[in-house]
Amino acid sequence: MFCCVVVSFVVGYLVCLVMPDLRRRAFAAYMDYFTKAIDPMYETFKKEVFGPIKDIKSKIPELQKKHAIRILEIGVGTGTNFQFYPEGCHLVVVDPNPHFKKYYDANRAKFPQIKSEEIIVAGGENMDMVADNSIDVVVISLVLCSVNSTQQILQQVRRVLVPGGKLFFVEHIGEWDTKKHNFKKMFQDIFTYLRIWPYLFDGCELTRDTLKELEQAGFSKLNAKRKYAPIEHSFFQILNPHVVGNATK
Ligand SMILES: C[S@@+](CC[C@H](N)C(=O)[O-])C[C@H]1O[C@@H](n2cnc3c(N)ncnc32)[C@H](O)[C@@H]1O
Repeated sequence: MFCCVVVSFVVGYLVCLVMPDLRRRAFAAYMDYFTKAIDPMYETFKKEVFGPIKDIKSKIPELQKKHAIRILEIGVGTGTNFQFYPEGCHLVVVDPNPHFKKYYDANRAKFPQIKSEEIIVAGGENMDMVADNSIDVVVISLVLCSVNSTQQILQQVRRVLVPGGKLFFVEHIGEWDTKKHNFKKMFQDIFTYLRIWPYLFDGCELTRDTLKELEQAGFSKLNAKRKYAPIEHSFFQILNPHVVGNATK
């Protein structure tokens, strides 16, 4: 496993040097590979956070009649969260990397009960095509580590959510328990400040304080906690801890 990771890094690095668009294509391909390895570890963790989505009732009259809700997933990638979405929901997805589409479509085909409304190729900072007050639930998982502006995205989330609508999130953040995990914190700092990790993983930074950003975003209610995911492999420990929970508009 460790050898696979090292080989992927080296190949990815060389590809990035030669052609920038190949870098995004390569990122989509190795995310598809990595998520197959990581996802089983995240399953129970995500279930706890995203489980309540199935109980949400729409505040949009036309969807209420159909007993459906409208979900927006920002940074959908290969589409690892379909299993948490209720039957008949309407799904809008946003992602700036068009090379995820074929992996997304393959995963999406396994969940025919979800109605895809729109796939938008854009960053979450610029979602003007999503109308104000039109979304019941926004989902963001493992995305805010690599966006240009977390605050701009959270303001967009507040704009598109219906009043009382909810944002559900699972995000990895910088280690805060520096007494217990100072070695890991050191690696997170080195890989991020030398730009090695962001270069290989499409801008992903290991040091972000997303909890602080959520606290500053102006949601009416924030239910967030720092939590370690049950990640067994020592290499992936660098992605722990996380901030998980939900916020209400
Ligand atoms: C690590 S992947 C996570 C994918 C998926 N959410 C998951 O949990 O498996 C990060 C995703 O965020 C997307 N992304 C990067 N910058 C973004 C931005 N500014 N706005 C929205 N999505 C972004 C990437 O293209 C990629 O699909």
